[in-house]
Amino acid sequence: MRATAHSYGYREVRTPMFERTELFIRSIGEHTDVVNKEMYTFTDKGNRSLTLRPEGTAPVMRAFIEHQLQQEGGDHRFFYIAPMFRYERSQAGRYRQHHQFGVEAIGCATPEQDAEVIDMLYTLYSRLQLQGLEVSINTLGTAECRERFRTVLIDYLRGHQQQLSEDSRRRLEANPCRILDSKDPGDRAAIAAAPSIHDFLNAEARDHFEQLLSLLDSLKIPYKVTPLLMRGLDYYNKTVFEVASGSLGAQDSIGGGGRYDGLLKALGGSDLPSIGFGTGIERILQVMLAQQLPLPTPPRPTLYLIPLGAKAKQQAFLLMQALRRKAIAVQMDLTGRKLGKAMQQASQLRAHYVAVIGDRELDSGLVELKQMETAEVQSVSIDALEILLSSHR
Ligand code: HAM
Repeated sequence: MRATAHSYGYREVRTPMFERTELFIRSIGEHTDVVNKEMYTFTDKGNRSLTLRPEGTAPVMRAFIEHQLQQEGGDHRFFYIAPMFRYERSQAGRYRQHHQFGVEAIGCATPEQDAEVIDMLYTLYSRLQLQGLEVSINTLGTAECRERFRTVLIDYLRGHQQQLSEDSRRRLEANPCRILDSKDPGDRAAIAAAPSIHDFLNAEARDHFEQLLSLLDSLKIPYKVTPLLMRGLDYYNKTVFEVASGSLGAQDSIGGGGRYDGLLKALGGSDLPSIGFGTGIERILQVMLAQQLPLPTPPRPTLYLIPLGAKAKQQAFLLMQALRRKAIAVQMDLTGRKLGKAMQQASQLRAHYVAVIGDRELDSGLVELKQMETAEVQSVSIDALEILLSSHR
């Protein structure tokens, strides 16, 4: 994830684990499930209402405003890898604490920016070799399109109230768009003939969406236009997207995001357009396990030192420090294992090289460096180790 973020020009941001409750209500929206049902909210000793962060976008916006980062000018690209907290009914793939890799690109309004963010998410999944993903994409239009759509949608849904689930009936006036991506069978039947946001798009929103789709075509990213995709957070406008995996159960969304042009301004910052995504790390791992994909292995030491005797132990310890200060990954046997056991430990750690250091090596200044994969042994002066090993850094 870090390597992908780096190749797309994003830098890491870390925000606190909790924020003022108000921030999430204002950004995610007071009528959303996240705010209504899922927040871990508590009062601190100063009688402030705080909430464990349920998502990463609002905290990044808050930090951006607080530290006046717009003064740096240009576009701003941030990523985070962080725990999120949602008081949801736990089930496979849905946790009360989950982790997200997320990005936020602030300052650019073009469809190219949207395509780049979607491409980044898709590239991450491709690098991890995930198979069988489905990218859904939609536009919610501008605030003006949405307002016109909302009025018509409420009228339509009022006429189908009997079929709607209890949840949806409650949402009807406050958040009717959410009913469109409900999974409840009654809701689905009721919305089968509902009006589509696509009939309410103005020229700006339609052009933006069409340009985005043609960019995705040229990048060869397969997608499905899904007019019912609304996403569960209120801050979105124009582009929204979600990636699902057939290897997950009911909770099949592995990542999602969208454009949120008005959010920074609504929170008291400058009027900068923005877009981002969040992807669930546990869900990525679930897909990797289901598809038996190679999981990352722990880093391998370049050199494993095995000292024999007290004097050698002392010298090897110093040598290890000197090499590590040159950024070479070295480990040594600190527990005083017998030679055979120490060699076993070196193989378990998958060390590239092993050197046994005893009195003879200390006297001659030469060590026998064994390359573990080829079992080739060469005699190297201790002073030359750094140069020889630095190519493994
Ligand atoms: P979200 O769709 O609510 O978006 O969450 C992003 C991803 O986090 C989901 O696709 C899913 O993989 C994972 N996820 C969410 N809730 C859970 C859970 N309870 N257990 C396990 N995984 C979960 C956002 O949070 C937006 N902030 C994304 C974004 C960034 N939009 C713009 N910028």
